[in-house]
Amino acid sequence: MNDMTGPLTGEVSVPGDKSISHRAVMFGALAKGDTRIRGFLNGADCLSTIDCFCRLGIEIESYPSYGSAPGDVLVHGRGLHGLSPSSVYIDHENCVELYTGNSGTTTRIMSGILSAQSFSSILSGDASVNRRPMKRVTDPLKEMGADISSLNEDGCAPLLIRGNNPLKGIVYSSPVASAQVKSAILCAGLYADGPVKVYEPALSRDHTERMLKMFGAYVSQGRENGRWYASVEPFDDLYAPQIIVPGDISSAAFLIAAALMIKGSDILIRNVGINPTRSGILTVLKEMGADIAAENISSAAEPYADLRVRYSDLHGTVIEGGIIPSLIDELPVIAVIASVAEGTTVIRDAAELKVKESDRIALVTQNLRAMGADITATEDGFVINGPCRLHGAVIRTDGDHRIAMSFAVAGLAADGDTVIDDPACVSVSYPGFYDTIERLGGEAP
Ligand code: S3P
Repeated sequence: MNDMTGPLTGEVSVPGDKSISHRAVMFGALAKGDTRIRGFLNGADCLSTIDCFCRLGIEIESYPSYGSAPGDVLVHGRGLHGLSPSSVYIDHENCVELYTGNSGTTTRIMSGILSAQSFSSILSGDASVNRRPMKRVTDPLKEMGADISSLNEDGCAPLLIRGNNPLKGIVYSSPVASAQVKSAILCAGLYADGPVKVYEPALSRDHTERMLKMFGAYVSQGRENGRWYASVEPFDDLYAPQIIVPGDISSAAFLIAAALMIKGSDILIRNVGINPTRSGILTVLKEMGADIAAENISSAAEPYADLRVRYSDLHGTVIEGGIIPSLIDELPVIAVIASVAEGTTVIRDAAELKVKESDRIALVTQNLRAMGADITATEDGFVINGPCRLHGAVIRTDGDHRIAMSFAVAGLAADGDTVIDDPACVSVSYPGFYDTIERLGGEAP
């Protein structure tokens, strides 16, 4: 990535939303009949979800083919009790082996689904996934009656999930605002002997609730005594013929950031999902002075819009509290933007960043400092003093796709060369990222 590039201009679309793509495959597999998924994200994480269900006997077709964009996927669902592991993947202890790659979402939500099955399974991922905390899902699932344990007894994957355990309904107060935890419990709740209700301290993304409703399940959501809740009734007859996946706002975030930071930029990003539990980045950037307009706002199960973004003079802000879950994945790129904004930006209440695909507090701090920014890591976020003129550096990603893209964008706005140590890891969520940057006029590594 060379010296600061010229302005980014033009129209693009971004790949399908990762969270929604995962759920569409999962619920499609557990539904009776076929679900067509339009705009599926053909990224490595979602392909891991597809692979798990193929190993569980679900036939899934992809047009034009896996790995191409945009995806159109057909899932031949076999009902809530229709999963049937293929003998090829059954080990000598009669467990089906499922591999979730880099995908925390697959690992956590699958653990809820697998806890309710009549067969046993072992769920493991790559080194990053196998380091991430799983007790947050295994504890409530055990409370429901699941037999689920960490093979290495460190609370992490690989997880051994024994089949044939009847599940009971629970009311669970999650200490973390996590859609993955909430979704694992809600999925297990479909199979329980009574309703499950999950409280969380702040509202995490609600794609599971919205999509389960589309599939016909009885779901309610709301707020009680300052806490958010979602609940589901046991239900046997999931069915939705079609799911339309909007563009991923978490992927659009990198293009938005580039356009805001590079003088003269003016871009239009089509069909971006703007679910309020995901669009905290738009609120925060507007507060920082960003020129972003949502045009052609429409809504199906999920709201979406075209986003027009122009270069802007930005100033610092404070990001904290209930908005954090709605922009948790965007905080690395927001930190990059904050480094070139005038004044101080404080990000707090975001300790979850330490247990994402990498320790994002440590890596954002290390990499931004290497590029000349004034940033201090705190226990639960950062303090960033801007503006700084970024210069090129060698970027350490630890294989984290969002770190790679955040710093590819920083590299576009920096003087001198920036080298991303593992540029290919972006394929986890955004295959084609570098091509899109080039199409808009930027220079990719
Ligand atoms: C996701 C939820 C978030 C997010 C992740 C995707 C999901 O994690 O960081 O990238 O699809 O449910 P948590 O639920 O752990 O906050």
